[in-house]
Amino acid sequence: LTTTLVAMTLSVSAGAVAAACDDGEVVIKLSHVTNTDRHPKGIAASLLEQRVNDEMNGKACMEVFPNSTLYNDDQVLEALLQGDVQMAAPSLSKFEQFTKQFRIFDLPFMFKDINAVDEFQNSDTGVAMKESMTRRGLLGLAFWHNGMKQMSANKPLNVPSDANGLKFRVQNSDVLKAQMAAMGASPQPMAFSEVYGALQTGVVDGQENTWSNIYGQKFFEVQDGTTETNHGVLDYMLVTSTDWWDSLDADVRDQLATIVQEVTDTRNAESSKVNAEAKQAIIDAGGVVRELDDAQREAWVTAMKPVWEEFTADVGQENIDEAQAINA
Ligand code: LMR
Repeated sequence: LTTTLVAMTLSVSAGAVAAACDDGEVVIKLSHVTNTDRHPKGIAASLLEQRVNDEMNGKACMEVFPNSTLYNDDQVLEALLQGDVQMAAPSLSKFEQFTKQFRIFDLPFMFKDINAVDEFQNSDTGVAMKESMTRRGLLGLAFWHNGMKQMSANKPLNVPSDANGLKFRVQNSDVLKAQMAAMGASPQPMAFSEVYGALQTGVVDGQENTWSNIYGQKFFEVQDGTTETNHGVLDYMLVTSTDWWDSLDADVRDQLATIVQEVTDTRNAESSKVNAEAKQAIIDAGGVVRELDDAQREAWVTAMKPVWEEFTADVGQENIDEAQAINA
């Protein structure tokens, strides 16, 4: 019986893929870790899936696996290189082991808002970054926005010293670890899917993320409140494997690249709105949101900005200068 059940399960899951994809179609699996609604990445991935399946029917077929159902971010780039998925969209902090250039995006207060991030990503420097990991087998297809990060904890955070002695979950990034240490807090790297449980059980006291992630993962339910610090950016790279991309027929590759570009332009333009709606949804659900006055904000900048010095050699002074010129 066990064997029969296993066989049935296998054929059902194989059948599900076969049903979505016709013979001869290029199969494109995209794995990511967030929810799909009210989320900049979730919406963009679903739109990409819908457009590929509508417009490339017969040539290609796409299947999106959200919510860490297939892989978490630590696993997905390896899976991409192995050919188990064809696309992923991890945050820029997750490329640590492939390039140190991306550390510029994690440096606190480097970009004043998502428009500045957008301009930097579309500059020659940003465009070149998409191809900076091809020797390691990864090709960036597009930068996808989420937005600016906020800070939350199990006690009110108004000035950085309020974080003294607290444990904060961070993405696995040396810059983010240094940023938390600069606040007198201790960083705890952890997969996204584990953060809610860790906050709930007190394994960590706080975390940083965008409004859409704080809402989508319900972090606000297990925190005292969220402080609108806008201290850093959380963005994504839609990434593929160079081997797979190069293996596509030119017409398939060109059509896919065009759809990716259009989806990127459409959804990046809406990312701030999606986060503003998530912030409002947190407030509507009874979550506490704290705003900073000018003096409080200055205290966060003063505490965190010294972190830049540690990473200037990795990210390049000229790139920092370019980002600052965009802010001006
Ligand atoms: C995180 O790990 O907090 C984020 O990178 C999750 C995501 O994909 O937005």
